[in-house]
Amino acid sequence: MSTRKPIIAANWKMNQTPTESKAFLEKFLPKFPESTPVDIVIAPAFLSMPMAAAQIVPSKSVDLSAQNMSAEPSGAFTGEVSAAMLKEVGTKYVILGHSERRSIFGEDDATINAKVKATLDNGFQPILCIGESLEEREGGKLEEVLRSQINGSLADVTAEQMANVVIAYEPVWAIGTGVTASPEQAQEAHAFVRGLLKDLFNEEVAAATRIQYGGSVKPGNAGELIALEDIDGFLVGGASLDPDSFGEIVQAGIAHVS
Ligand code: PGA
Repeated sequence: MSTRKPIIAANWKMNQTPTESKAFLEKFLPKFPESTPVDIVIAPAFLSMPMAAAQIVPSKSVDLSAQNMSAEPSGAFTGEVSAAMLKEVGTKYVILGHSERRSIFGEDDATINAKVKATLDNGFQPILCIGESLEEREGGKLEEVLRSQINGSLADVTAEQMANVVIAYEPVWAIGTGVTASPEQAQEAHAFVRGLLKDLFNEEVAAATRIQYGGSVKPGNAGELIALEDIDGFLVGGASLDPDSFGEIVQAGIAHVS
């Protein structure tokens, strides 16, 4: 078994108002009163972060994440959220380059790279999302797409800084569709990404970097996926909105390492 500590993150996307976030946490946090052998992360919408932080920051088991961050420190950037704002609420992680940010909001690897560097400069741990569309996979472009996303998003990041980077491999065709990558497809892509990290950095970085799987992770498939050699946790969308189902996914991670 690898020495990488699994990291299981809830990406709430544009769901859970401040009141709903509070109600979720009142049910979820008592399931994990002490620290666990997996890192548990919750990424609420920006407006729900202060309410969620009031419960998450004092907890022993869960860390707070943002779903995005501006690469700019402050100023005339209407609608954006800065590192200083995220620091003040107690953010530890920042999800970057999610496929919805890439496809709906037009973020490219250069934009994402600037954000990755800004999060690292501010002491956050970016959860960098990558993944291919169905068209790209069927067109035989899987490796080319993953390589250009990894190389572009991690340009100028040092091997040392990689200790604070988490990667989330999320095949776009599996996000929110109910279709999960087969264990073979997931393991193959994860091993390939690890190889890319070896090419870009070195063997140590490749071996130490945590690579999450995302795309229709549910209590029913989490155990099988977490058992795969190169899968080090999950980025969970739909199934993270219910405290019981997210709790079961976390339990699958705990059962795997215990
Ligand atoms: P999903 O979303 O679990 O609803 O497929 C995953 C994600 O987009 O991070």
